[in-house]
Amino acid sequence: MADGAGVVTLERDGEIGIVTVDSPPVNALSAAVRDGIAGRIREASADDGIRAIVLLCAGRTFIAGADISEFGKPPKGTPLNLMIDTIESAPKPVVAAIHGTALGGGLETALGAHYRVAVPSAKVGLPEVKLGLIPGAGGTQRLPRVVGAKRALEMITSGEQVPARAAQESGLIDAIVEEGKLREGAVAFARTVVAEARPLRKVRDLTDKIEAAKAEPGLFDAFRQANARKFRGFEAPEGCIKAIEAAMTLPFDEGLRAERAIFEPLMAGTQSKAQRYVFFAEREARKVPDLPDSTPTLPVESVGIVGAGTMGGGIAMNFLNAGIPVTIVEAKKENLERGLATIRKNYEATAAKGRLKPADVETRMNLLTGSLEMADLGRQDLVIEAIFENMELKKETFAKLDQVAKPGAILASNTSYLNVDEIAAATGRPESVIGMHFFSPANVMRLLEVVRAEKASKEVVATAMKLGPKIGKLAVLVGVCHGFVGNRMLAERQREANRLVEEGAMPWDVDRVLYEFGLPMGPFAMSDLAGLDIGWSRETSKGETLREKLCEMDRRGQKTGAGFYDYDASRTAKPSELVERLVLDHSKAKGIERRAFTDEQILERLIFPMINEGAKILEEGKALRASDIDMVWITGYGWPVYRGGPMFYADTVGARTVLARMEEWESEIGPEFKPSELLRRKAASGEQFTGAA
Ligand code: 3HC
Repeated sequence: MADGAGVVTLERDGEIGIVTVDSPPVNALSAAVRDGIAGRIREASADDGIRAIVLLCAGRTFIAGADISEFGKPPKGTPLNLMIDTIESAPKPVVAAIHGTALGGGLETALGAHYRVAVPSAKVGLPEVKLGLIPGAGGTQRLPRVVGAKRALEMITSGEQVPARAAQESGLIDAIVEEGKLREGAVAFARTVVAEARPLRKVRDLTDKIEAAKAEPGLFDAFRQANARKFRGFEAPEGCIKAIEAAMTLPFDEGLRAERAIFEPLMAGTQSKAQRYVFFAEREARKVPDLPDSTPTLPVESVGIVGAGTMGGGIAMNFLNAGIPVTIVEAKKENLERGLATIRKNYEATAAKGRLKPADVETRMNLLTGSLEMADLGRQDLVIEAIFENMELKKETFAKLDQVAKPGAILASNTSYLNVDEIAAATGRPESVIGMHFFSPANVMRLLEVVRAEKASKEVVATAMKLGPKIGKLAVLVGVCHGFVGNRMLAERQREANRLVEEGAMPWDVDRVLYEFGLPMGPFAMSDLAGLDIGWSRETSKGETLREKLCEMDRRGQKTGAGFYDYDASRTAKPSELVERLVLDHSKAKGIERRAFTDEQILERLIFPMINEGAKILEEGKALRASDIDMVWITGYGWPVYRGGPMFYADTVGARTVLARMEEWESEIGPEFKPSELLRRKAASGEQFTGAA
């Protein structure tokens, strides 16, 4: 219906008009919803029998924002700003009644109302920054008028969801009403407003918080400085700050125009396109074509872990945080004790930073049991093996688990590279075996690669996929191949990073290029952090690679004060003259004539082979879709979300460009650059991998 009457209705409860939005799943502000709200508010305004209006939503939530799926398409229907203006200019009080989440355009709509009430479980926020945008319907102008500039800066640049009570304390919510009784509470509130003849409080006219902020002129620059690291590379946060600054200096309508002038280029830009793509990619990753939502899952109420090392401990913490008891088994007593102590130390460090209550440290530790006996893994619903990366050891462990684990228990390997089918074959129940690959630090990184072993049952795979969100992870389904999706592509980048250093770049050039691209650090800084001697021993060292040479010199990374870089007492990295000489000698010894590389050449050599490998992964069906590969890189390796992941990035540079480079390197350097068939097809057809760039 053109006037949105199908999704927004008006009814009367005595003198109160009730406008209800009913547009599942999340009442997003589609053209029909915008038309409907503006239309019903106008009708209620014209109805002499109505003295106040309540704006309410049906279903699970208040309006969750603009309809993101309409972005980038030609505008239709009532513009959002006009709809909000219709609410604010209504001649009688409008009360927004909030449950679920009032987000983005949803909160902006509520800010157009004269009053806001909410149930205690409701949350409000302006998350546009997470989509590479600023609030574009008055949020940057109205919010600071209600909560002040400082709080508005925090809320708008973080996109945080603020619980109703905290929102009430900052003035954003006028009253909290009883849970489950929003309609009654909001109507009662509206009646009081009428009975007390309270004024039409238009947020646009509020000035006291603006005046208060004007007395603190250094506020904005101090905020920029304090958050420089967090905002690095992103365009939207600076846009948010500028728009709020405009609210301090400009009359309201001019402020709205300034907001629009910042919003529009962001909306048209690549960063926002990438971030909107990631929003949908994340939701898409949960969907597995042959595992519909109705697929039965197995209960996971207790977990066993084999191995109390860094990975095992980190994995355990995820389950403890979710209130799931964990039994962790180690072979040696001292290793078990060290592992348990590390978990406690991590929790205590979090508590010391105020991010966990001291009592919660104990609650979590009480859910943890250490053991030296595999036999103690007979009762758990899920057992995860997190031992040394060695096929024979893993097979032995799974054969033992097969003997002790209860029938139907899921047996998962946290292997980073190895063949999970082969591991499964060491048991008599391959249908219960899968890979659950966590990323280091396992209690922090969001990614969980669920490796679908050939014989794993649908129930087992569906259970692992559903378990992801319960333990705060994004589960991405991948197939069995060396290194799965993430590490398989990483190996390409690592090979080229090493080769670039042999051919003419310095380690810090390579690291700088990736850092400037937006990654948290480059491969050499990463090696120094992790320790160069992982998997190295003096007895077996051949002294051939740079890494081996550095280890032999006892430059083993940050822990020894030197590695690829020199480190001072505060662990600040500095390029090393010694390493520079070592690199030059290394190239000479290999008979390589060094040459200069531009930053662009370095970037292409590091990233294009990853894209080519991603295309092979798709071709072989080891990932379900290009966007899953992108989610792996964003949540597991810190790929900058504003670049959308390697496959989205490929679409921004074009498959043709990537192909041309791969062909060049294939003929100049070697067959490892052989372009994938899929890359060739995309280049020929001009089609994208993601269809979103
Ligand atoms: N537009 C279009 N579709 C949306 C949407 C939106 N704003 N928000 C959610 N959806 C869709 C999801 O894609 C998903 O679809 P699917 O079932 O087909 O995959 C469905 O609604 C349910 O969403 P979730 O799976 O995320 O459900 P949850 O219950 O986990 O979360 C939520 C609900 C907290 C509302 C979450 O969906 C969310 O954070 N949404 C985005 C909120 C947002 O960013 N709003 C700002 C939009 S930009 C804006 O308003 C610009 C303005 O300033 C001009």
